Amino acid sequence: MRKLIAVVVIICAAALVAYAAGPAKIDLGKWVDGKAKKKAVQFPHDVHQAKNQCTDCHMTAEGGALKNQKTGKEFKPMVKGGKTSNDVHKEFCWDCHKKKSVPKGKSCSKCHK
Ligand code: HEC
Ligand code: HEC
Ligand code: HEC
Repeated sequence: MRKLIAVVVIICAAALVAYAAGPAKIDLGKWVDGKAKKKAVQFPHDVHQAKNQCTDCHMTAEGGALKNQKTGKEFKPMVKGGKTSNDVHKEFCWDCHKKKSVPKGKSCSKCHK
């Protein structure tokens, strides 16, 4: 019985951690205001969580507010549909891909597909 309780407690704790980590995939089309030129980015959050620290991208380890890769300050994505998004590309996604030498980290089709 005691063993069973321990197992249940462990499963609940694991589920709670998974829940707190946020979604595995995030549709970043919600960042775009107006008609988009490229396909909305389906961000693989789970892949990134496995290969980075939470605080590489978030202000705190719990998630929530994002971190500007250049300044280390809070990052609020503002994307105008149809216009190349300098802040998201250069101050968030591309900056880290360059730093971590992600293969094809800046090629359009890697993210917009
Ligand atoms: C490579 C960057 C990156 C890493 C690493 C990362 N996240 Fe995220 N995370 C994001 C992005 C981008 C979003 C989407 C933000 C939005 O919805 O505007 C997000 C969303 C979230 C959300 C949902 C927040 C909300 O407002 O709905 C949670 C919770 C979260 N992350 C937790 C974590 C935790 C915990 C870790 C570490 C285990 C982590 N993240 C690692 C980039 C990252
Ligand atoms: C590392 C990921 C990544 C790469 C590589 C990338 N982008 Fe983006 N781009 C984004 C994200 C994230 C957004 C904002 C969310 C969205 O558009 O879904 C965005 C937004 C845009 C926007 C504004 C929204 C729209 O569709 O009108 C344009 C235009 C754009 N990107 C063009 C490009 C072009 C051209 C390339 C190749 C030179 C490129 N992107 C490469 C991640 C990337
Ligand atoms: C803090 C660093 C960091 C940031 C910020 C970051 N990435 Fe990445 N990204 C990585 C790393 C590291 C990998 C390589 C993962 C691997 O080895 O498979 C990666 C891989 C990817 C891949 C390929 C995933 C796969 O399944 O092979 C995509 C797509 C991607 N990133 C999109 C984005 C987009 C879109 C953004 C911005 C919203 C972003 N990344 C921001 C570090 C980052």
